[in-house]
Amino acid sequence: MSKTLYILNGPNLNRLGTREPDVYGTKTLGDIEKACAELARDGGLDLVFRQTNAEGTLVDHVQEAADHAGALIINAGAYTHTSVALHDALRLVSVPVIELHLSNPAAREDFRRTNYVAPAATASICGFGAMGYDMAVTAAIRLVKT
Ligand code: DQA
Repeated sequence: MSKTLYILNGPNLNRLGTREPDVYGTKTLGDIEKACAELARDGGLDLVFRQTNAEGTLVDHVQEAADHAGALIINAGAYTHTSVALHDALRLVSVPVIELHLSNPAAREDFRRTNYVAPAATASICGFGAMGYDMAVTAAIRLVKT
């Protein structure tokens, strides 16, 4: 099995740190990437960490993960709630897929209850802020090794 962990991030996550810090915390995506890289390295995995604001590019990245990843962690941002194309792309992935959100969308506005990612995911981690990324990487290391 591939030892490469893909972490894909969707729209507006490039603004973490200043974007609604009361909801998403004060860590930047760069801070999060650094922590994930250390954990992945210690766990013996190579890391591909990406962010895009474009739906089609996110689909391209999921397709790349389908071909090369041992596990995929995805915070699809708002495309979670809107994108059938993303759902269809995730269905191509045969390795574990962990859906991730900093906040808990189920406890927020009604429109966030529609979710096209969860039905195509192995598991979901929501509501732990940046710590959720650490938790997801730790879980992915276990999943890739077993
Ligand atoms: C988010 C939750 C989504 O509802 C929202 O659109 C985001 C961020 C999260 O990480 O909490 O952009 O995915």
